[in-house]
Amino acid sequence: MAEPSIAGDPDLRKVNFLPDGEHSLGQPDLREPDLRQPDLREPDLRRIGAHPDYWYPLAWSRQIKPGKALATRFAGQPIALFRTEAGEICALEDRCAHRQVPLSLGLVEGDALRCGYHGWRYNRSGNCTDVPYLGKGHLPNGVRAYPCREADGLVFVFPGDPALAEQVPFPELGAAADPRYKTRRFGREIRCHYTFMHENLMDMNHQFLHRAQMGQIRPRFLGRRIGDDWLEIDYTFARSGGGQSLGERVIFGSKRTGGWSNNRDKMTIRTTYPYQSLRIWAGDDLPVMHLWIAYVPLDAEQSSNRTFGLLSVRRPQIPGLIEAAWPLLVLFTERIFAEDQEIVELEQTAFESQGGDLNQEIFPPIQDLRGLLRRCGLPQEERQGSWRTRDDSNVRPLPSEGNDYRL
Ligand code: FES
Ligand SMILES: [Fe+2]
Repeated sequence: MAEPSIAGDPDLRKVNFLPDGEHSLGQPDLREPDLRQPDLREPDLRRIGAHPDYWYPLAWSRQIKPGKALATRFAGQPIALFRTEAGEICALEDRCAHRQVPLSLGLVEGDALRCGYHGWRYNRSGNCTDVPYLGKGHLPNGVRAYPCREADGLVFVFPGDPALAEQVPFPELGAAADPRYKTRRFGREIRCHYTFMHENLMDMNHQFLHRAQMGQIRPRFLGRRIGDDWLEIDYTFARSGGGQSLGERVIFGSKRTGGWSNNRDKMTIRTTYPYQSLRIWAGDDLPVMHLWIAYVPLDAEQSSNRTFGLLSVRRPQIPGLIEAAWPLLVLFTERIFAEDQEIVELEQTAFESQGGDLNQEIFPPIQDLRGLLRRCGLPQEERQGSWRTRDDSNVRPLPSEGNDYRL
C-alpha cells in the first residue's frame, strides 16, 4: 500500500526547512535540518492554553432543561448554565460564594438560581439577591456571570474578559442553518490537549489510520494560505486501492475511481482560531460536506477537551435518500472519530510520559498550524495567573456588625 508522503509533492519540495522549525518558500536553504531533535527553543505547544477571550460552546441547547442547571467547565473554571423562565440562557460561576459548592445542584427560580445548600439566590448577573436567613440589607458576595448566547443548537460562553465579548466575532457555524444540508450534531470528551485535535484534523496524511474505513486513499496537498489567526489547507484525494465505503458514498453521492486526473474532489481545512472547519467539494460550488468543530479544554491543565461538531451533508436530489442513508453515515463517521480519539489520546499519553512535546513534525502546513496555535493561545504561566485569580468584580463585603439575625 502506498503510504501518503510529501516526498513526491512538487509543492512541498519547494519548501525549505530551517533548523529553527520555520520554513520558507523560494530559494533552497543549504543547511541540513536536524529532524532527530524536536525544537526545544519554542514554548511547548501542550503547555499553551486555549485563549479564553473567544466564544466557546459549552453545551448543546437541548441539554439545558427548564428548571434545572447544567454543570459545565472551561479549562478548570466550573460554569453553571440554566434557562430563565422566559427561556433565556444564563451562565454563572458554578461555585456558590458561601461554601463553594456547585450552584448547578440548585434550583432555577424565575430568572435566578438558588443554591441547593442554604438557599442563597443569585440573579443572572451573579448578584446574590436573597439569603433566606439574613435581612435584605446585608447581602453577601455574588458570583461571576459570563456572557453567553445560543446559536444553531449550541450554547456559547465567553470565559475570558467580559468587556471584550461584544467585540470578539461570533463564529460562523458552517451549514447547520442551511436547509440544503442535513446536520449531525456530535461531541465527545477526549483525553488530550486540544492542540492534538487541531493537528489531527488538518493533517490529512493520517488517512492511513482510517484505511479500514476508507480503503486506500492518498491525499495530495494542493496549497495553503495563512493569516495572523487563520490557516487554510487544500487537499485532493486519489484512491490507490480498496473499495469506497457506503458512508463515503453518502457524502460524495457517486462512486470514485482512482487516479489524480479523475479526481474532482477538493477538501479545504481551515483553522480560524480557535475553531476549525472542513469542507469538501465534488464538482460544483456548493460543498457536499461542511464540518464545523470546536475543542473546549475541560481541566485546568487542559489535558482533556470536549469536542462539539456540526457535520452537515448536502441533501441529494432524490427526496428521502439522505434520511434512509443517515444511520450508515452516522456509523461511518463514528468509526472514524473513534479511530482519531484513540490515536490522539495515545499522543497525550506519550506527551505525559515523556514530560514534553517531543514530536518531530516535518510537514510544513502542520508546522504553520503549530505556530498559529502558539501565537493565538496563552502560555501556561500567564494562563494560570489569570485563571487562579478569583474575579472580584461582583464581590461586595459582608457587613461586620449589625446583622439582623440571631444564631
Ligand atoms: S453553600 Fe450555597 S447557600 Fe450555602
Ligand atoms: Fe482522522
